[in-house]
Amino acid sequence: MISKMLQKARDFEKQYLPYTQPDQPRFHVTGGIGWINDPNGFAPYKGEYHLFFQYHPYDTKWGPMHWGHVKTRDFIHWERLPAALAPDSEYDRNGCFSGGAVELPDGRHLLMYTGVRCARRRNGKIDEYQTQCLAIGDGVDYEKLPCNPVIDASQLPEGGSVHDFRDPKIWRDGDSFYAVIGNRCADGSGTILLYRSEDAQHWEFVSVVAACHNQYGRMWECPDLFPLDGKDVLFVSPQEMTAIGLEFHPGNANVCLIGQLDRKTHHLIRDRVQAIDYGLDFYAPQTLLTEDGRRVMIAWMQNWETSSCKPQEMPFFGQMTLPRELSIRNGRLYQNPVRELEACRGVKIDYHNVLINGETSLRGINGRCLDMTVTVRPGNESSMYKWFRLYVARDGEHFTMIRFKPETSTIKVDRTHSGFPHDIVNVREFPVSFNGGVLKLRVVMDRYSLELFVNDGEQAASFVLYTPAEAAAVSFSSDGSVLVDVEKYDLEIEKA
Ligand code: FRU
Repeated sequence: MISKMLQKARDFEKQYLPYTQPDQPRFHVTGGIGWINDPNGFAPYKGEYHLFFQYHPYDTKWGPMHWGHVKTRDFIHWERLPAALAPDSEYDRNGCFSGGAVELPDGRHLLMYTGVRCARRRNGKIDEYQTQCLAIGDGVDYEKLPCNPVIDASQLPEGGSVHDFRDPKIWRDGDSFYAVIGNRCADGSGTILLYRSEDAQHWEFVSVVAACHNQYGRMWECPDLFPLDGKDVLFVSPQEMTAIGLEFHPGNANVCLIGQLDRKTHHLIRDRVQAIDYGLDFYAPQTLLTEDGRRVMIAWMQNWETSSCKPQEMPFFGQMTLPRELSIRNGRLYQNPVRELEACRGVKIDYHNVLINGETSLRGINGRCLDMTVTVRPGNESSMYKWFRLYVARDGEHFTMIRFKPETSTIKVDRTHSGFPHDIVNVREFPVSFNGGVLKLRVVMDRYSLELFVNDGEQAASFVLYTPAEAAAVSFSSDGSVLVDVEKYDLEIEKA
């Protein structure tokens, strides 16, 4: 049964979606209309990959959370499906918050999400109550279960908060289902709780997988826990983070904990803590395992800190990152665009050993929907250059700058002149390794975004741009002599 509220959202989509297509990115998921935030339920189902998202179809601002829905076979071409969930039940009347999805042994599709219900205290303040709920469907239509909520305050460990208890990421392992859920514990900071179930409806608390202890931010949202290259990896999205040098940034950040899950205590013993993405626009990542064994991540290419700023005329707000393949190398998380992107490469233009000393542009190197790799080496063995800059999305008025400084081994991305109508943070700097003096920058652009992959995925950094799509020039400059190789492909992707 489709509720009136869900039908209203679906009718709204039918009416308005057809008119918003020309302005959309080519291969990054958006809501098409309205507002989106976190990716939800990113998982394989019946040979395709489904992606849901936090969604308010009626406005380009956050509002009562629905789940929007798309699916893909190759992570590049996405088919839009009708909205999947609306906040139409007593236990989720103030929002269907983030969650996960899994294919059931009988072939049905299970969604697990956080139901939010608000209640006003006697002093007028509003409290949110968060519980975990289920819906089952066929890949298009979903029914919420009568036993909802299936995890509530009674299954919290002592001191756990029912007001901050959200974002279940569910998976199946053998005959059991597991879910990790973000929670706030007695010291006011985040914990990630592990639950187990035999039938996905009756759940038991297993352990605290990791606790923040007020060290990496406060509340931890949107967890994901998965094995990768012999390690166990936990992703969390902390709120109220304080920067630690250039490694993390303040506000809503993203953190990757790499270690080993103790099989008895189900607690993560950490080897390393690092940022996942070093850009301005990245939050709430989720991963899935592809049929050929790749761990692929997608995230909201936005951040709460940057989300109030958009040009007035945009018919949609929010996009997802390009899905990325993850691996662990030298104890670090690496990420690179899904290999399927390479099948969309059109004309190749490449240059080798171009000497840059001052400002240079190269014939044919331009575009706003491109996949370009620039390899930078010192041009003079006896004196190291001071800086190298790559400008993209450039015209007389606009540019986005990527600058590398060998002395500090840092990259700075500056999108101050990239079409933003308000004064928000537009600059991010981060450390990179500078092995043997060679730096490799892979830039993927899809009209309104720039994703940077440094040194074959050792670091990634995501940025939304609002520069008019006609601003498509690329140029290079340096202080001191630099040799570059450039390999650029236009990406040829028909919007479905
Ligand atoms: C993270 C988040 C989640 C929540 C959702 C609400 O961005 O705050 O914790 O489920 O957004 O839209």
